[in-house]
Amino acid sequence: MERIDKIISKELNIGRNDAKSLIKSGKVFLNGSSVKSPSEKLDEEKDVLTVGGRVIHLRRFVYIMMNKPEGVISSTDGRKTSEKTVIDILPEDMKRKNLFPAGRLDKNTTGFVLITDDGEFAHRILSPRSHVPKTYIAKLDKPFDDEISDAFSNGITIGDDECLPAVLEPVDGDYTLARVIIKQGMYHQIKRMFKKYSIEVIGLKRIKMGRLNLDESLAAGECRYIDEKELEMINSD
Ligand code: URA
Repeated sequence: MERIDKIISKELNIGRNDAKSLIKSGKVFLNGSSVKSPSEKLDEEKDVLTVGGRVIHLRRFVYIMMNKPEGVISSTDGRKTSEKTVIDILPEDMKRKNLFPAGRLDKNTTGFVLITDDGEFAHRILSPRSHVPKTYIAKLDKPFDDEISDAFSNGITIGDDECLPAVLEPVDGDYTLARVIIKQGMYHQIKRMFKKYSIEVIGLKRIKMGRLNLDESLAAGECRYIDEKELEMINSD
């Protein structure tokens, strides 16, 4: 742990008093919150320090929650198809090398995407054995019924793929608006699950990973860092 005024003075090559003045002026942020005192300390592993919006110090790995908008792909490189990726739309001060989305949402699916540069963590939550529950709200072209909910909860087969037991329930009693919880991440999984019953998904939003809800204050396309406590909530149900 090192004092913030010392780090700023070193990184910006300015005197300690100038560093303190910058802090007093309210331009220095630690993990998104304004730094009040020059004696606050920074954890090199975990903290992100910005001065006037410019990143001065980055933690070893970052974990970002994005509210993915429609029309953006969950990929690192959209050059081949000239499409915008979730990495392209990150704010400049959050961009860094090796960031990728941990798990994919379809181009027209919105909501919670986790973006990180921690390959091991991503592998842990994406591994077919990890069974992290992912909660979605699906808008349907016609209502589902209790028979379909029962089938989802017993585990259905779509093509050659076996789905693990999933939760399907109406939102506020509306059977054309479904809360769906799945523990896998197969290609177009939810759309294919409903298609089996001739129901089309006309809107899909991921609202939760593990026990961590999508932050409702994030507008479409916005994102924020996830802290360690929140990270643990993703990995446990
Ligand atoms: N299931 C789908 O069909 N699409 C998604 O984007 C996510 C889950």
